[in-house]
Amino acid sequence: MDKLKLTLIMALLATALAACNKSDAPASAEGGKAPEAAAAPAANAIQFVDTQEGKPLAIDAALFDTPAAKEFLATGKNPYIGKEDAIAKGKKTFQLYSCTQCHGPEAKGQVGPGLTGPTFKYAKDATNKGMFETIWHGTNGGMGAKGIGLMVPGDNTQGIKPDEVLQIIAWVRSMSGSLTGNE
Ligand code: HEC
Repeated sequence: MDKLKLTLIMALLATALAACNKSDAPASAEGGKAPEAAAAPAANAIQFVDTQEGKPLAIDAALFDTPAAKEFLATGKNPYIGKEDAIAKGKKTFQLYSCTQCHGPEAKGQVGPGLTGPTFKYAKDATNKGMFETIWHGTNGGMGAKGIGLMVPGDNTQGIKPDEVLQIIAWVRSMSGSLTGNE
C-alpha cells in the first residue's frame, strides 16, 4: 500500500516536472534568440587611415562595443553630435586623458593647437572620421596616439576606447560653432 502511494507521488512529480520543462522551453529559446539578433555585427563600411601617412589603420571591430560606436564604424558619422549626455562625458574624458594640458580646457589651444576649427592643421579633422583617426593614432608633429604616447604597435586595447573618442569629438564640436563634422 505504502509502496503504491510512493509510486503514485513519484509519477505525479515526474509529470509536473515535465510540464514545467515544457512551458519553460519556448520562453528560454526565445530569450536566447533575441540578443543574438540584436548583436548582429554591423557592416564595416568605412576604412580608417592614419594621419601620419594615410596608411590603412586597422582597429579591432570588437572595440566598437556600443550602439553609437557600431554606427560610426558602419557610416563614419558620429551619433553623439549634439547629445548633451555624451558631450558632458566627452569633456570629462578630455580632462582625464590630459588633452586639456596641451589643447586647453576649452580646446581652444595651449601648447597644442586649438581643435574647434573651422580650419585645421590636418584638413581631414573637419570630419569626425578624420578627427577620430588623428586622436586614435596621433600625428607626426607632437601628438602621440590617444594623447597618452604612442601605443604598442598592433595593440589597440590600451587607452581611450572608440566610444570615448566619439564623446570627446562631440564635446569639441559642441564648441565649434556650426561645424558638426558629420557634414
Ligand atoms: C603632449 C601634448 C598633447 C596631448 C596630451 C594631446 N595633444 Fe592633441 N595635439 C598636440 C599637438 C602638438 C598637436 C599638433 C600636432 C601636429 O602638428 O602634428 C595636436 C594635434 C591634435 C589634433 C589635430 C588638430 C588639427 O588642427 O588638425 C587633434 C584633433 C588633437 N590633437 C586631439 C587631442 C585629443 C582628443 C587629446 C586627448 C586624448 C590630445 N589631442 C592630447 C599635443 C597634444
